[in-house]
Amino acid sequence: MRGRSDTRPAPVVSNPYQVIASGTPGRIGWEIRYFHEVDSTQRVAAELARDGAGQGTVVIAECQSAGRGRLGRSWHSPAGLNLYMTVILRPRIPLAEVPQLSLVAGVAVAEALETIAPGLISLKWPNDIWLCERKAGGIIAEAVTDPAGSLSCVLLGIGINLNLSSDHVPPELLGKATSVFIATGQECNRVQFAGALFNLLDSRFRVADTGGFPAVRQAYERYFALKGRRVTVIDGSSRTTGVVHGVSSDGALLLETGSGLTRILTGDVSLEGAYD
Ligand code: BTN
Repeated sequence: MRGRSDTRPAPVVSNPYQVIASGTPGRIGWEIRYFHEVDSTQRVAAELARDGAGQGTVVIAECQSAGRGRLGRSWHSPAGLNLYMTVILRPRIPLAEVPQLSLVAGVAVAEALETIAPGLISLKWPNDIWLCERKAGGIIAEAVTDPAGSLSCVLLGIGINLNLSSDHVPPELLGKATSVFIATGQECNRVQFAGALFNLLDSRFRVADTGGFPAVRQAYERYFALKGRRVTVIDGSSRTTGVVHGVSSDGALLLETGSGLTRILTGDVSLEGAYD
């Protein structure tokens, strides 16, 4: 029973995603918590995880009033159009390897989108999902640590613009954001798409569980948008410009800067000739 101090939004009675819940504990999406509106599925998942929610539990919301992006940005989350979800993962990996999980998830998202928007998908390191070189989705991996500083779980947030139409793109995102509907003219069944995505996430994470990111690196490279392109990576006050050589086995971006190969672990990539 929910106590009076419980600030979690009440789940709505009918969960359209229940039909894709796998039922096998530990699989991605074996348990699906569905909400009409939350501030952020990341925040709701953090509470559920603190209360013991298991590996593979997924939180999905129709809309978010304060969807969170990387680097303190917000995530535009209108109702009834897109997919906003957070997966609770309890991997046994060092904290430093958490960013690799978002690269692994990127492969699964790209593979799921490939079936509904064939040939249009690419991945912009570290975790932007592109359709026709515009942003259609993003992934965020937030680590939760215990008091001793060890990893207790990872909240893997995925936002994908599926049925967003041009009319729903806010002015500040015009020319930058896209969706499956904008790119293909086809509406997408969100429940069916989520079911396919859960299966792909589950199988990619199983592979990565034993082989780490190197086991899915080849698949990542198939979708990698940046190889050979000139970029500037901005990380706080530091800027590094160079030509992208690839992604290393630990998920770092490798940049040829003129003074050799530089490994970039974090930052925001801005691409010459692209929208940003
Ligand atoms: C990014 O590209 O900056 C990452 C965006 C991640 C957005 C998703 S939507 C579902 C989940 N809940 C959030 O508040 N954020 C993530």
